[in-house]
Amino acid sequence: LHVIHIAAEMAPVAKVGGLGDVVCGLSKALQKRGHLVEIVLPKYDCMQYDRIHDLRALDVVVESYFAGRLFKNKIWVGTVEGLPVYFIEPHHPDKLFWRGQLYGEHDDFKRFSFFSRAALELLLQSGKKPDIIHCHDWQTAFVAPLYWDLYAPKGLNSARICFTCHNFEYQGTAPASELGHCGLDVHQLNRPDRMQDNSAHDRVNPVKGGVVFSNIVTTVSPTYAQEVRTAEGGRGLHSTLNFHSKKFIGILNGIDTDIWNPGTDTFLKVQYTANDLQGKEENKEALRRHLGLFSAKVRKPMVGCITRLVPQKGVHLIRHAIYRTLELGGQFVLLGSSPVPHIQREFEGIANHFQNHDHIRLILKYDEALSHSIYAASDMFIIPSIFEPCGLTQMIAMRYGSIPIARKTGGLNDSVFDVDDDTIPLEFRNGFAFSTADEQGLNNALERAFNLYRNDPESWQKLVQKDMTVDFSWESSAAHYEELYAKSVARARATIR
Ligand code: ADP
Ligand code: GLC
Repeated sequence: LHVIHIAAEMAPVAKVGGLGDVVCGLSKALQKRGHLVEIVLPKYDCMQYDRIHDLRALDVVVESYFAGRLFKNKIWVGTVEGLPVYFIEPHHPDKLFWRGQLYGEHDDFKRFSFFSRAALELLLQSGKKPDIIHCHDWQTAFVAPLYWDLYAPKGLNSARICFTCHNFEYQGTAPASELGHCGLDVHQLNRPDRMQDNSAHDRVNPVKGGVVFSNIVTTVSPTYAQEVRTAEGGRGLHSTLNFHSKKFIGILNGIDTDIWNPGTDTFLKVQYTANDLQGKEENKEALRRHLGLFSAKVRKPMVGCITRLVPQKGVHLIRHAIYRTLELGGQFVLLGSSPVPHIQREFEGIANHFQNHDHIRLILKYDEALSHSIYAASDMFIIPSIFEPCGLTQMIAMRYGSIPIARKTGGLNDSVFDVDDDTIPLEFRNGFAFSTADEQGLNNALERAFNLYRNDPESWQKLVQKDMTVDFSWESSAAHYEELYAKSVARARATIR
């Protein structure tokens, strides 16, 4: 199959969170399975250009329509992690992707509806005939209605559209009038069965458009797919998702096991494997030295947390876990940053409070290299999310032998299984899970983890070794996507015949 992803993020060149990891990991896995996979991204000023190989501008200039005008787009091509990637650089007076950050601009709706249209224009003008166009999250959900309304009639008609929503909290709604700028017909689309927001009738909802107009709709774990079909979990879209339930499915993400491999990870002080855990201890010592933490000879658990600090992640429980870990005699290392000013300020306050403390360190920034060191150094990893579509950090942590302490929600519920839960077969139990999103729930799981670590080092080590060998690769998830793609393509061909 020829698959083209149109996305706002791709690790490692343009990543804010898990979306970037997924676009890269899924594409690599599909390529390995023999498919032709290409990716289209905006050309941001703040990309990691050193991770793009052979980047060059193409001779062609793609013209795309927006708000009554044609704009020229310079097209670049390069290789990222062995994958061909096209980068779109619009010549637009507002410097759409020249803002020093990927998201969070007042005109994101404009920036990404422009990009979605330009991406389809690129495919049309370069004569590509993909079998699947796969768009992700609200930023590129515009691709689905644009494709059927404008591009299939123009001849880019070989494709089926797959839309993956990585988080239904972000729907990108805007006043209906803004939709017209990318050439979509507002009157046709601002209707309850199309793109009209379910709770504000003068607004349009790109995620709803992605759901309504795509052939395949996925989200990133089976449990989350159930949750968003309920009134409590669906963020206003549950009725739409129930209506389209036949084409909607939850597939658990994988992780890129080449990048996340403690046996080969060059960010680490020492590489290590499940059969040789001495290296893990050395990484812990190295991180303690690096961060100025106390390094006792007694066994002392280190709790790690790497996250965007947003309400979804249970920030109040993360804060609580810092203090509780201290009371229990452990060490806590948090790496995170927040787009929400008051949360960022609050954590800066905690970071300052503990800045010379020898058991607690908060590093409030995005730092890829440090994230690898923390996964390797920590013994436990905390993810107390209020909701979590999939979550990748619990899987990465396990691969590095850091035992997850997670709330049972969304993808965490599909990947973290409590060591004390008799209803789950022993071989699947891999961490500490709790249900209620409160301090008691968290305390209970954290205390059980500390007890096992302290009182039964042998069982702890076995758990570490087991977690390091759980298969979280993309293999089975990519096979699942492949099956969905193939079925959809076959259905389309059958209809044409
Ligand atoms: P989300 O996409 O909701 O942020 P995920 O668990 O799916 O959550 O993915 C988070 C990804 O971002 C992981 O790869 C994690 O290691 C990484 N990450 C999050 N915060 C930071 C940070 N401050 N520095 C480095 N990497 C981070
Ligand atoms: C979103 C979700 C996260 C998921 C990631 C990748 O950012 O918040 O749970 O793992 O997308 O799908």
